[in-house]
Amino acid sequence: MIIQQTELQYLPPDLKRELLPKHVAVIMDGNGRWAKKRGLPRIRGHKAGVSNLKDLVRCCHDWGIEALTVYAFSTENWKRPRKEVNCLMALIRRFLRQELEEMLEKNIQIQFMGDLTELPPSLQQEISYSMKVTRNNTGIRFFIATNYGSRQEILHACQAIAQKVQQGLLQPEQISEELFTNHLYTAGLADPDLLIRTSGEMRLSNFLLWQMAYSEIYISDALWPDFNRVDFHRALSAYQQRERRFGKV
Ligand code: IPE
Ligand code: IPE
Ligand code: MG
Repeated sequence: MIIQQTELQYLPPDLKRELLPKHVAVIMDGNGRWAKKRGLPRIRGHKAGVSNLKDLVRCCHDWGIEALTVYAFSTENWKRPRKEVNCLMALIRRFLRQELEEMLEKNIQIQFMGDLTELPPSLQQEISYSMKVTRNNTGIRFFIATNYGSRQEILHACQAIAQKVQQGLLQPEQISEELFTNHLYTAGLADPDLLIRTSGEMRLSNFLLWQMAYSEIYISDALWPDFNRVDFHRALSAYQQRERRFGKV
């Protein structure tokens, strides 16, 4: 059955609503290659990537996904040329400016995860504002991982817990998985059920290492700017075929 992009305004009928992943995480990869294929600068790939992200958020809203986390900028991405880093920061800022109204309309709650203190101050302001005004929204929870690194997140959690132990607020034997989880950026958010990575790469690149202990992984060969509703539908169909065992038989 060939499904056209235009037919996918609503949840495709072959997907079972009750078996949809509640939380989808996406490593949006392949912007650079998308641009290269067209003889364009990498920055154009990032622009196309942002525009594609807008549609994924709309799609999650249309199809009833409860939480979406996207990897926008890793702690390792600072190693890219300065011009590209600046462009990525500018694109995140512009995305927030342009999309805020629609996010409010669609009842979407925007949150960021990562060390935000290292971001340009003007972007930090835009981020705080977008989180503040969407805080009480009850629709999709939309997380943008920016200056995010999972190892750094885990270290921060360890430091915060160690401090509590040092201050006598906590005994070492009280450190449980639940307590640890509550010290991560994702505190209060269920672990991703499904991870999608685009552009055919098969690695986690320091993304949600603790949280993805039991996530189903789907690799799409599409480059991120080309990953559309048809591809998302494929990923969700594949997910619905999987048997999640969590170590049981
Ligand atoms: C993903 O696309 C976007 C970010 C990492 C910010 P890339 O820029 O990594 O694209 P490729 O992997 O070079 O094609
Ligand atoms: C992962 O992609 C980070 C983001 C998508 C933001 P990268 O392109 O940076 O990952 P590697 O370097 O190929 O592992
Ligand atoms: Mg990449």
